Amino acid sequence: MTHLLDIARFIEDGPAFAAKQAPQDDTQHAVIFDDVGKVFSARRGEQSAALANVQLGVRRGEVFGIIGRSGAGKSTLLRLVNGLEKPTSGTVRVNGVSVGELDERGLVALRRRIGMVFQHFNLLSAKTVRENIALPLKIAGEPKQKIDTKVDALLELVGLTAKRDAYPASLSGGQKQRVGIARALVHDPDILLCDEATSALDPETTQSILSLLRDINQRLGLTIVLITHEMEVIREVCDTVAVIEKGEVVETGPVWRVFGNPQHDATRALLRTLVHDLPADLASRVKPARDAVPRDATQVLFDVRYTGADPQEPDLAALSAALSEAGGRVSFVHGGIDRIQGHAQGRLVVAAPLPMSSHDEGAFDARLAALIANARRHANHVEVLGYV
Ligand SMILES: Nc1ncnc2c1ncn2[C@@H]1O[C@H](COP(=O)(O)OP(=O)(O)OP(=O)(O)O)[C@@H](O)[C@H]1O
Ligand SMILES: [Mg+2]
Repeated sequence: MTHLLDIARFIEDGPAFAAKQAPQDDTQHAVIFDDVGKVFSARRGEQSAALANVQLGVRRGEVFGIIGRSGAGKSTLLRLVNGLEKPTSGTVRVNGVSVGELDERGLVALRRRIGMVFQHFNLLSAKTVRENIALPLKIAGEPKQKIDTKVDALLELVGLTAKRDAYPASLSGGQKQRVGIARALVHDPDILLCDEATSALDPETTQSILSLLRDINQRLGLTIVLITHEMEVIREVCDTVAVIEKGEVVETGPVWRVFGNPQHDATRALLRTLVHDLPADLASRVKPARDAVPRDATQVLFDVRYTGADPQEPDLAALSAALSEAGGRVSFVHGGIDRIQGHAQGRLVVAAPLPMSSHDEGAFDARLAALIANARRHANHVEVLGYV
């Protein structure tokens, strides 16, 4: 049953690989990258491609995450959205308008529709919180009363009303970033770009900034594109994620699917921080599955994975029944289940009694294979890790 559901979902949503073609529907997408390339020319005429063949669509109202190693091209991709960089090939369309073709006035108008939040806040130290937030409106020549009303509303939104007259030096990192976010919202943009907005913050402050971003996304219907090297951030707030490796999008899709069943090595490497590896005491006792079953082994360890592809919650009773044909105790020795966008996924390491005497190798392998096939009806992936 699981298997059929998997196939049905696969056909419905397609695999999590990178798209071969950009979506073309500008009414549904706030940003579309259509076969975008970016080449930087260095001093001595050398050229280096920072981005190539990028096909992506950011849906209106979603939180879209970009991950990849350092130097992969994430910031360049983001800077193409507000025209800080121009593509050398292909087009970047924001709300249906090709950014590369805009003149200076067009770019100024575009940048009012797009707020940007930076890792190091970029606040002016000689100005107070409210002056920092008011500055873009002042530059735009807005009347004082309109500025005051707007700044007050934004201070309220980011929870900094009490700090309105403070200077940045007296603020915590999280408070500084709240100012940065408020400032990015002064023109009521419909897109917010965040480049490592939480990277300088401790985990607890990161959480509070993420809740704020989620809140803004939902309350204001804002589309958010964010870059982060923290996989937890993607898991917490993003709807969709794109993985960039050496300037190319190697994988993209809903977060639950990419995280639950990563297809590309680059994705797996990035997600390693989230994987529950075997604890050291267990790892030292396990005889790997590729070796013959040790004579003194009494248990077999299974690696059980839930990718989030099934609508049902993991049924641990059914799983343990399937894994305990010898009738002994099945114990969960390690791992955990997370919920991402309502999909249960994770990895469990399960210890079960050996199915039968391990002396007749052929019969043993056949029993074990049958047991695994049985267990796979209750999880997306079941494999023997080893024996203890
Ligand atoms: N203005 C520039 N001139 C020349 N090369 C550049 C320029 N900006 C970026 N690059 C190059 O483009 C590539 C991608 O850089 P980018 O800043 O987009 O990476 P990133 O994924 O944001 O990395 P990080 O995680 O370290 O911030 C790098 O090789 C970088 O050296
Ligand atoms: Mg960067």
